[in-house]
Amino acid sequence: MTLHARLAELATLGATGGGIDRALFTAAERAARERFVAWAREDGLRVVQDRVGNVFARLAASPETVPGDEDAPVQCGSHLDTVRNGGAYDGAYGVVGGLEALRRIAESGELVQRPIEVVAWAGEEGSRFPLGCLGSSVYAGLTPFDEVAALVGDDGESFASALRGPGGLLDGVFVRDGFPPPAAYVELHIEQGPVMEREGARLGIVSAIAGQRRFRVTVDGVAGHAGTVPMAVRADALCAASELVLTVERAASAVADTVATVGHLLVEPNQTNIVPGRVVFRIDLRSVDDGRVEDVEREIRARAAEVAAKRGVGVTIELLEARAPVPMETRMRLLVRAACKARDPYAMAIVSGAGHDAMCVAHVAPTAMIFVPSIGGRSHVGDERTAPADLELGVDALAATLLAAAASPIGAERTGGASER
Ligand code: GLV
Ligand code: MN
Ligand code: MN
Repeated sequence: MTLHARLAELATLGATGGGIDRALFTAAERAARERFVAWAREDGLRVVQDRVGNVFARLAASPETVPGDEDAPVQCGSHLDTVRNGGAYDGAYGVVGGLEALRRIAESGELVQRPIEVVAWAGEEGSRFPLGCLGSSVYAGLTPFDEVAALVGDDGESFASALRGPGGLLDGVFVRDGFPPPAAYVELHIEQGPVMEREGARLGIVSAIAGQRRFRVTVDGVAGHAGTVPMAVRADALCAASELVLTVERAASAVADTVATVGHLLVEPNQTNIVPGRVVFRIDLRSVDDGRVEDVEREIRARAAEVAAKRGVGVTIELLEARAPVPMETRMRLLVRAACKARDPYAMAIVSGAGHDAMCVAHVAPTAMIFVPSIGGRSHVGDERTAPADLELGVDALAATLLAAAASPIGAERTGGASER
């Protein structure tokens, strides 16, 4: 099956009509992991999973490189979960493109000097449990398994329960614990923004990934009768939250290269004739400069205290997740650059405003990323698209980077050098 046929098949799993819903450990997301395993086995790869739901498909090193197959692998990968009403390429392209790259490498007859793996990381989007890059964060030792197990999803089910449930770990796939870190990691992804298309670049060499913080804000007012409580004495939680949402917009707009979004908001009790008593919303705040994130957070907190005092409501701001900006590792970035420039003279350096599993893996291995353009810059929406020829070119660049990384001293010691965690 071709890259395009596989992507098209994945796009049917969780299709809503307007996009794709494939939150972690739902039936659709599990079906996507099952397809990945079936395709990987069809391609002759060895498949294992870990206890958090990450799935690893491995191409062995060439026999003549013995003991190359004992070495830590070079990895690529991305995620199979989606945001609500998401697109067909965010994450899926890096996973299916990884399989395609391994197939091209195997068919090329080139010497493969280390094992090469494609990883489908569990729950990158944070669309069910309130932690982005969940699987890669546990893998990289950034979040303890027990902390993740206790997370409760939007539907009220805990991660631990969902993991054991029908959407959780796959049957018939060995569950391995204590993976050594890879020798190197490279993630192939769509850009998800308009920059490459504007610049006429078909390949992007990611220089850094923006840092992000996510917050949960709870506004406690006083619920009451919409017809009888005079305006002057209300403590309307939604009116206060509305001021705070605009504060978030103003605070990020005032600081260069910084973005902030309120994309999730719940009103209680959410009835036309009741003054809202409580609102819970989330803030997503990002910049490649952590100092700017800090400045915006400080401004939001100061204004929130003012709104609380002025409106007589309680405002609590909890930090749910903080990831510092991550520069790509120089040697890996240079391998990516060589692979991209050989295929596209207009290949450009680019900063990723989106988060990726690469942010976590970068803590344990030299890491880089390759981007392909997004048509119209559209992503996290149903009409996310990339030209088929650009998808193919990205896979070629990935295959070249993986082969080069497997042949290079990146990742330090060979056999026996990797420590089990
Ligand atoms: C993931 O796509 C993110 O950047 O939120
Ligand atoms: Mn993604
Ligand atoms: Mn995404």
